[in-house]
Amino acid sequence: MIKSIIKGTGKFVPPNLVTNKDLEKIMDTSDEWIQQRTGIKQRYWIPEEGVTGASDLGLEAAKQALDEAGWTPDDLDFIIFATLSPDIMFPGCGCFLAAKLGLNSTPTLDIRQQCTGFLYGFATADAYIKTGLAKKVLVVGGEVHSSGLDKSTRGRDVTVIFGDGAAAVCIEGVDTQESVGLLASALHTDGNFAESLMAELPASRLPQRNPPGVSLDDPRYFPVMDGPSIFKKAVRLLPKVTHEALEKAGIGLDQIDLVIPHQANKRINQAFGQFLKLPEDKIFHNIEKYGNTTAASIPLALHEAIEQGRIGKSGETVLFAALGAGLTWGACIYRFL
Ligand SMILES: CC(C)(COP(=O)(O)OP(=O)(O)OC[C@H]1O[C@@H](n2cnc3c(N)ncnc32)[C@H](O)[C@@H]1OP(=O)(O)O)[C@@H](O)C(=O)NCCC(=O)NCCS
Repeated sequence: MIKSIIKGTGKFVPPNLVTNKDLEKIMDTSDEWIQQRTGIKQRYWIPEEGVTGASDLGLEAAKQALDEAGWTPDDLDFIIFATLSPDIMFPGCGCFLAAKLGLNSTPTLDIRQQCTGFLYGFATADAYIKTGLAKKVLVVGGEVHSSGLDKSTRGRDVTVIFGDGAAAVCIEGVDTQESVGLLASALHTDGNFAESLMAELPASRLPQRNPPGVSLDDPRYFPVMDGPSIFKKAVRLLPKVTHEALEKAGIGLDQIDLVIPHQANKRINQAFGQFLKLPEDKIFHNIEKYGNTTAASIPLALHEAIEQGRIGKSGETVLFAALGAGLTWGACIYRFL
């Protein structure tokens, strides 16, 4: 039976390190507030000069993942790019990334499921692999948030939490009878809460997507978030979707070696761990270094967890879980070959 196996991972963050102290200089916030509420100490933003899109960050991460897998771009049957911050409104980042990899006919797909984007991407790759539509798939999560954030005090609740970055995973269909690969995924959406985290403009649904006369300082151009409501939803839905995925995989929580949650807020992940009654060392955190990199956050954490030897040995099992704008949420369980 064909299983979806991770062959390589890669990550890339832009060089511009922005500490909480740096943010204190441009808005009314404090290092203490940010660390206490979110666990974040720093994040990376693209340079203020020049042109850097999510596809550029994704390219560097993809090259690293391809190297580790021992693949060239020509080996790829399919590219999936998860992002909420595409380089431009259209075409999608997958098109740009494929061209930057030197490809001119490999199929690509962009996924717009925000913080859950990588999980939707992994599940889609798995479906393509298991139905024989593809054998070697590249899944990339990449975001450039910094160019679209409200860097005045008005936007401080959102701006302090987001960072730019990308990560990539090479996934291959391998024929084996062993219980390995993507064991289960449970994915959900509830669009009734779309407004609790969104950027409203530009909006194709309007007669003119950039309404005439609006100033680029109009708050609708910037992401707005009902933070407390999302926090409560995350703490309730993440444990629930975890149990759903465990049930689908037919395994217990005791068989999970490491939980890699989306890195949105360290307090959310600590509460999630407490609900599951997990020892602290079974939950992976790196939000303090990168902030919330949305679709990049889970693969970036996976790459670092493997690098640090926290996960990755044959037979070890990792659980990914995320909730974010949409609202979308989900969990995937993966066992290493
Ligand atoms: C955003 C978040 C960190 C805010 O933390 P919180 O404990 O809920 O804080 P509150 O929203 O209650 O804000 C408390 C106060 O801090 C202020 N505040 C907000 N951002 C601030 C900042 N960056 N610096 C200083 N003060 C800030 C608020 O204005 C509020 O002031 P008030 O009490 O005078 O009105 C938290 O709600 C969160 O992480 N939510 C979930 C985010 C998430 O998971 N999103 C989905 C994935 S992207």
